[in-house]
Amino acid sequence: MPDDTKLEPHGRWDVLTATGAGTPMGQLLRRYWWPIAGASEFDRPGTKPVRLMGEDLVLYKDLGGAYGLLDRHCRHRRADLSYGYVEECGLRCNYHGWLYDEAGRCLAQPYEDVAHPEARLKDEIRIKAYPVAELGGLLWAYLGPQPAPLVPDWEFFSWPNGFRQIVLAEIPCNWFQCQENSIDPVHFEWTHSNWSVRLAGATGPYTPQHVKVDFSEFEYGFQYKRIRTDTTAEDRLWTVGRVCLWPNALFTGNHIEFRVPVDDENTLSVMWHFSRVPREREPYVQNRIPTWQGPIADPQTGRWITSHVMNQDFVTWVGQGRVADRSQEYLAPSDRGIVMIRRRFLTDLEAIRDGRDPKAVVRDPEVNRAIALPVAERKNFIEGFNRADIMRDPFSRRNLQGYIFQIGQPAEVREAFLAAMGFSEAELEPEPRLFDPLAPAPR
Ligand code: FES
Ligand SMILES: [Fe+2]
Repeated sequence: MPDDTKLEPHGRWDVLTATGAGTPMGQLLRRYWWPIAGASEFDRPGTKPVRLMGEDLVLYKDLGGAYGLLDRHCRHRRADLSYGYVEECGLRCNYHGWLYDEAGRCLAQPYEDVAHPEARLKDEIRIKAYPVAELGGLLWAYLGPQPAPLVPDWEFFSWPNGFRQIVLAEIPCNWFQCQENSIDPVHFEWTHSNWSVRLAGATGPYTPQHVKVDFSEFEYGFQYKRIRTDTTAEDRLWTVGRVCLWPNALFTGNHIEFRVPVDDENTLSVMWHFSRVPREREPYVQNRIPTWQGPIADPQTGRWITSHVMNQDFVTWVGQGRVADRSQEYLAPSDRGIVMIRRRFLTDLEAIRDGRDPKAVVRDPEVNRAIALPVAERKNFIEGFNRADIMRDPFSRRNLQGYIFQIGQPAEVREAFLAAMGFSEAELEPEPRLFDPLAPAPR
């Protein structure tokens, strides 16, 4: 890889990390829909302050059930609309009562409407407004040029018989170094498997080592593949692998992790997780997908939390700096996939300059029906397992014993999960400290 990158001038990648509206990547990334919240955060109508690609916004659900995403600041004298109150239609500023709808129109200016009705001042008022869509229990925002593409309807959103949960976390670093982790197979061995051994106080044995990795592009992203000393080219981690989903996520089969740029120095991690219920629990229909916020720092020590899979990832990302300085890195052969996605973004910058759509923008409603993706363990998610099989398999059992991916799962989500799966806490042993995220699932 060093030979390959001699041609890359220092600073070549700098363009990839700036997401503001006036920047090349800011314009590119605005061609995609971004998950910004869980719909279950709006069980009751209200507001949520949102910052996305450096833009301060307010997301709301009005009393009539419509979602809107507006400028955070009122068009009148700039009060913070996240403190506004929702009406049957729209969001009202808590300062002088101006009322806006989801298209950014001003529906009412209470004083002016009464004192100067003939002026109809409100007709000329517009506040910045972006479209919001709901899919898979997530709320999505689109900040780009019209016509907006479709929110991609990935197949897993409609897989039956699953308990889903959404986990949010605020990560104080640039989104792109988080997304580079979506095409980094070797880190599993060191960041998760082996580090977990060491964190548990043991010095071994370490997990089987990666001996070969490969990367390939497909329509909706990239696949990465691995062979470890305990697997062969027959293994689905080589024949199918995992998916770096374009432009902003890692998809492993049972979960997808979106990296959403808050601004150039902060990222919202949005985890969407699917747990297949045992066959005995079919048909299972989930009426509400819970959303919860996971902490990343230990308030006692001020250090990052290291106990859970994604928390371990967060440690590596923030450790690279607020915006990783790519002029100081030394890329190695395991980074080939990272170079591939960087180059793909550079190519897409040219595409939008030429007036073309970038990669993986979906506009055809016929295409946008449960879009199929490579899934190594597809059979497991579709067909599921019997209760007894799950209890027999250490990896499946471990996923029942506690939420291994992020710390901070609220008790009510844990209860809802156990109820969906049909297990009681008493049947399950305490959460083990050691685990290998690459351990094969039962077949
Ligand atoms: S500042 Fe919002 S109505 Fe006056
Ligand atoms: Fe990871």
